[in-house]
Amino acid sequence: MVTVNHQRVPRKRTYLMCSPEHFAVEYAINPWMDVTAPVDTELTVKQWDRLRETLVQLGHEVHLLTPERGLPDMVYAANGAFVVDGAVYGAQFKHEQRAAEAAAHRAFYESQGWRFIAPSETNEGEGDFAYVPEAHGGLILAGHGFRTELPAHAEAQEALGRPVVSLRLVDPRFYHLDVALAAIDDANIVYFPGAFSAASQKVLAQLFPDAVIADDADVMAFGLNLVSDGLNVVLNSEAAGLAEKLEAVGYHPMPVELSELKKGGGSVKCCIAELRR
Ligand code: ARG
Repeated sequence: MVTVNHQRVPRKRTYLMCSPEHFAVEYAINPWMDVTAPVDTELTVKQWDRLRETLVQLGHEVHLLTPERGLPDMVYAANGAFVVDGAVYGAQFKHEQRAAEAAAHRAFYESQGWRFIAPSETNEGEGDFAYVPEAHGGLILAGHGFRTELPAHAEAQEALGRPVVSLRLVDPRFYHLDVALAAIDDANIVYFPGAFSAASQKVLAQLFPDAVIADDADVMAFGLNLVSDGLNVVLNSEAAGLAEKLEAVGYHPMPVELSELKKGGGSVKCCIAELRR
């Protein structure tokens, strides 16, 4: 009998998060948002705190962005920029309701001395950009179709000096790349093929032959909206099936409850931006 021994190695990360003190569902800009459904702000903060503590306990560094009243989606810190090799490509939000978040992120990075590149194209940061440092020498995967516009992919490539692979999202429920695809370590990804055009599915299959393939239940439970350090995979507790799949190939799933933030159309990854030096 052949036993495959997957040695998964965690790498220490630096993250940015923003407390959901002012979180609410006051407008609907994605199919998950229902302005008539009540949101429990106290529970939201509690669940978010557990998420932050989980990262800290894993040994990661978590920076905090100050939440602003009137910006209820600011908790989804992943959308404010995309950081690779110490360079920050800023966001330019599609919807007016979130536009002001970009300046808050920019101020954070500038105050910390990061090299900031201002965008002139619509893009929602890590919502639509993922980075896989050991895949093909360092690859940026980028989504378009709902939020980020295609010219932003070229702009990101010029800003960051890494090849960008454009992937077309085709299902409005999966309006950002990070709800349909995630890096699970430095070289591999997990994704839900049905969120992508047939051509983009082909591209992903060619680039990532060993990818973990997610199913309908995984994606609907926001399981793909995960954060991994290479070993520990923090993901929505509803995504039990995906947790099992990841465990079977040597990862260590860490489920967290984020029922309230799901009402805004987000989960683990949406709340966490990675700052890559
Ligand atoms: N309500 C937010 C929006 O529609 C959710 C953003 C989720 N963030 C993410 N990285 N997918 O813009």
